[in-house]
Amino acid sequence: MKFSKRAMQVTPSATVKVSNTAKAMIRKGIDVINLGIGEPDFPTPKIIADAAIDAIRSGKTSFYTPASGLPQLKEAIAERIKQDYGVVYPADQISVTNGAKMALYVLMQVLVDDGTEVLLPRPSWVSYRQQVNLAGGKPVIVETGTDFKITTQSLDTAVTKNAKVLVINSPQNPTGTVYSRDELAAIGQWAVLHNVTLIADDIYGKLVYNQNQFVSLVQISDEVAASTVLVNGVSKAYSMTGWRIGYLAGAPELIGKVNSILSHSTGNPATVSQYAAIAALQSDQSAVETMREAFEQRLNQIYPLVQQIPGFKLAAKPQGAFYLFPNVEAAVDLAGLNDSGELVDQLLAKAHVAVVDGAAFGMPGYLRLSYATSLEDLVTAVERITEFMNQFLEKQVSGGIGIETN
Ligand SMILES: Cc1ncc(COP(=O)(O)O)c(C=O)c1O
Repeated sequence: MKFSKRAMQVTPSATVKVSNTAKAMIRKGIDVINLGIGEPDFPTPKIIADAAIDAIRSGKTSFYTPASGLPQLKEAIAERIKQDYGVVYPADQISVTNGAKMALYVLMQVLVDDGTEVLLPRPSWVSYRQQVNLAGGKPVIVETGTDFKITTQSLDTAVTKNAKVLVINSPQNPTGTVYSRDELAAIGQWAVLHNVTLIADDIYGKLVYNQNQFVSLVQISDEVAASTVLVNGVSKAYSMTGWRIGYLAGAPELIGKVNSILSHSTGNPATVSQYAAIAALQSDQSAVETMREAFEQRLNQIYPLVQQIPGFKLAAKPQGAFYLFPNVEAAVDLAGLNDSGELVDQLLAKAHVAVVDGAAFGMPGYLRLSYATSLEDLVTAVERITEFMNQFLEKQVSGGIGIETN
């Protein structure tokens, strides 16, 4: 069998892979703590699950819906965007997709031609790059500073005449970075000036901590909003990763193209999940706040502990999402390893903790640790990693060589 060039260049998602390996070890009875995972550990709130059960029982879920989603769900999304952002999108400027991942995939199909350049911050989420490649485009990396943020200066350095799209993900996976209104305004104006379409991946928008504020690109100005496609979904905020409901909102012509592709590819997202999503978006939002507070508490407890792991260096405290992204170059050296990928393997095999190599996000020398797991497991995981690293520290001390650990 001969495979297409597209299929030959695509690699499996590193985050999904590490999570699957950890889950397989757990199934074999090995006590692995999985910090590789990119999904909340809470069950979907009961009110949402009950709405799905009611929809099944009342016979509403046996049939196709429009490929771009139920009109009632589009209305619920429009209302939620209006309430959360103060921005109005008519329901026909919204498409419902199988998770935000599919929204982003279809967008690349709609916006990217052979050779189109898509500006992606380094680091950024694993799938953007692959989705750009699958659309025939060229990912162009925009460098960030120690705060993991791009600026108009780094954009000026990266941009070429073929650059047509820029993806902004705030709060950001894998760093937890949140862009301020001023920073987004500068980036938004830059994009308008350069005729670059912005994709605002707001999937972690509800998960912001310690009085930090989330702002979306679509809130900056009418001009910036008109150049932006908004991507969001229910996965992270409502603990609904398995239900696969995401959405995008943008200009009518763009939505028309997206809907045509959806009608020939996924068809509609599962009807039952769409009814669940209506309940999620319309019901009392207190469950979202309860989960947000739990993540905040975990971040506040775990951040200082991770800072103390020998060889782990954390930049400023993350403001959102549920990830820590320490630099581990000193830990790699201390353990006598070649790179952060080897450290990931060692931590899984020896300390029984699963984490993701920063290389998957374009940044080798870093690890992504998810705190979407119980505080108890988090503390144990950090103890295990610390113990694993301490053995090398002890060897160095007994050998008389000092090391700066933080
Ligand atoms: C930055 C980012 N965007 C989009 C997604 C996709 O989310 P979903 O397809 O579950 O809605 C994820 C999931 O990990 C993510 O981290």
